[in-house]
Amino acid sequence: MKKYQIMLVGCGGMGHAWADYVLKERTDCEIIALVDIIPEHAQNYKNEYKLECPIYDHIDKALAAEKPTLIIDTTTPDAHNEIRTKSLLRKIPVIGEKPLADSIDAGRDIVKTADMMNTPHAVMQNRRWIGAMRKMHELAHDERLGRVGFLMSQFFIEVHFGGFRDLMDNPLILDMAVHTFDQARMILGSDPVSVYCTEFNLPGSWYKGNASAVCVYEFENGAIYTYTGSWSSKGFNTSWEADWRMICENGTVMCDGNNAPTVEINGKRTTEEIVYTQKTGHYGCFDEMFEALENQRPAETDCHDNIKTLGMVFGAIESAKTGKKIIL
Ligand SMILES: NC(=O)c1ccc[n+]([C@@H]2O[C@H](COP(=O)([O-])OP(=O)(O)OC[C@H]3O[C@@H](n4cnc5c(N)ncnc54)[C@H](O)[C@@H]3O)[C@@H](O)[C@H]2O)c1
Repeated sequence: MKKYQIMLVGCGGMGHAWADYVLKERTDCEIIALVDIIPEHAQNYKNEYKLECPIYDHIDKALAAEKPTLIIDTTTPDAHNEIRTKSLLRKIPVIGEKPLADSIDAGRDIVKTADMMNTPHAVMQNRRWIGAMRKMHELAHDERLGRVGFLMSQFFIEVHFGGFRDLMDNPLILDMAVHTFDQARMILGSDPVSVYCTEFNLPGSWYKGNASAVCVYEFENGAIYTYTGSWSSKGFNTSWEADWRMICENGTVMCDGNNAPTVEINGKRTTEEIVYTQKTGHYGCFDEMFEALENQRPAETDCHDNIKTLGMVFGAIESAKTGKKIIL
């Protein structure tokens, strides 16, 4: 019997990356049950991955019948609280997609349950595992540049998803900016203390909820971080990792999110070399989550840390609603 007896909950688009990783990249995992409220989705996975396991249309039925040693939650954000809390209450470790939860209270409940049951939960934040982003973190702590005063990200993509994102209240901030905010925390190695945000829709937007936003954060280390972004902006798209400018005491760093950052100090520009040995994106975060489970230590994106990224999301949403600066 393999070490990780996995119940995969949520057999939609993103679940494929998780099933591919555990079935094709690892030798210590097997999927013992598939769960989806739309049973055809689970059946499609069963066929595609040639699995023998049972399928369930509800987490309760699956938990009553099966004894997984690990649960993967790749459901839509509205289901994360239920899936993660129920799994943790049975003392089963959970790893799952971002966002941690679809409200800050739900996120805090998950963290509380993880504490109470002394059981880990870590969240996918794949956009930390990009060589250029790790290099930005190094540069934010590089003596040549000195202290960071101002970090800016610009995220502009025209994307037509269809499905749950078109109907969400805050599609950009909750479903996408959660990545960029998490990248900002990782780059600065610091946590935010306040936020002011304006959320809106551009003329011609096809999203029901606001798909554009401007946010200003103050960080514990004194840096100001600004986020500007849109999921319905036409032309001159940025990368999904965003365009970054970081202004430090002695110079400025520019990065398009993927390629080696360029530094300018005293009028002299250099392109920095990236030395990055981990896997990129999802696979980098998967490796980290499993290594953390193996070593019984919190993963880099453990829920206790990730709640701070979620705090940036819901602080921004509250600020946009109230028109006030929010203390985080
Ligand atoms: N990390 C990334 O880059 C990235 C990219 C895309 C999506 N995601 C995240 O992945 C998650 C899933 O997104 P998706 O695009 O795969 O969505 P999707 O709609 O394609 O798949 C979600 C699946 O979950 C199922 N589901 C919903 N509620 C359920 C419940 N209560 N119990 C069991 N199954 C349930 C749905 O029927 C569906 O099959 C979301 O949280 C999303 O934000 C992350």
